[in-house]
Amino acid sequence: MTHTIRKATADDAGRLAELAAVTFPLACPPGSSPEDIAAHLADTLSERHFRTYLADPGVTILVIDAGGGGLRGYSLLVNRPALDPDVASALTALPSAELSKCYVHPDHHGLGAAADLMQATIGHAAAAGATGLWLGVNSQNTKAIRFYEKSGFRKVGTKSFRLGSAVEHDFVMERRLGG
Ligand SMILES: CC(C)(COP(=O)(O)OP(=O)(O)OC[C@H]1O[C@@H](n2cnc3c(N)ncnc32)[C@H](O)[C@@H]1OP(=O)(O)O)[C@@H](O)C(=O)NCCC(=O)NCCS
Repeated sequence: MTHTIRKATADDAGRLAELAAVTFPLACPPGSSPEDIAAHLADTLSERHFRTYLADPGVTILVIDAGGGGLRGYSLLVNRPALDPDVASALTALPSAELSKCYVHPDHHGLGAAADLMQATIGHAAAAGATGLWLGVNSQNTKAIRFYEKSGFRKVGTKSFRLGSAVEHDFVMERRLGG
């Protein structure tokens, strides 16, 4: 199936929120409560939040565009130094950008779309001047961890992530860019 990877615009905010509502639950540990997931979506992944991300010069959102208005996935890059002390002390390649989100619609898992998105995202981070790219991934999300390892990331540390009332533990993974 053909698709293009492009930078998202303000017009994509509503479609990004719809895609996030489908894909965010897939990244949560099996025991996550529906209430916590819904609260996280409302607090960080609504159309309003995507509008704010899209207006932020330190943020780049790339989308997998299937044509005809359909989006199959998205990544969100943050080109700012990591504030979390656990992350900052774990990173080895600086300056580093954060791959804050990387989500593909489940109908398109295992088909290479995620690899295309990752390749484009790595290219953007490198072009913006980053030497490294880091991400946090839930320690139980074995599928995503496998995907990130295939994409050249390795585990360099851990950090905590709050999902509603629960504190989840994320692996911090890092990949060197270029050279
Ligand atoms: C993470 C994601 C972008 C990867 O895209 P994808 O198309 O599924 O990736 P791929 O199929 O190339 O790679 C997944 C790998 O995990 C493996 N895998 C699948 N299910 C698995 C499981 N339950 N346990 C371990 N490995 C698993 C696959 O076999 C594949 O590895 P292989 O190529 O060596 O066989 C996509 O799965 C996704 O959007 N998931 C939901 C959201 C998410 O978790 N995002 C990451 C948040 S940090």
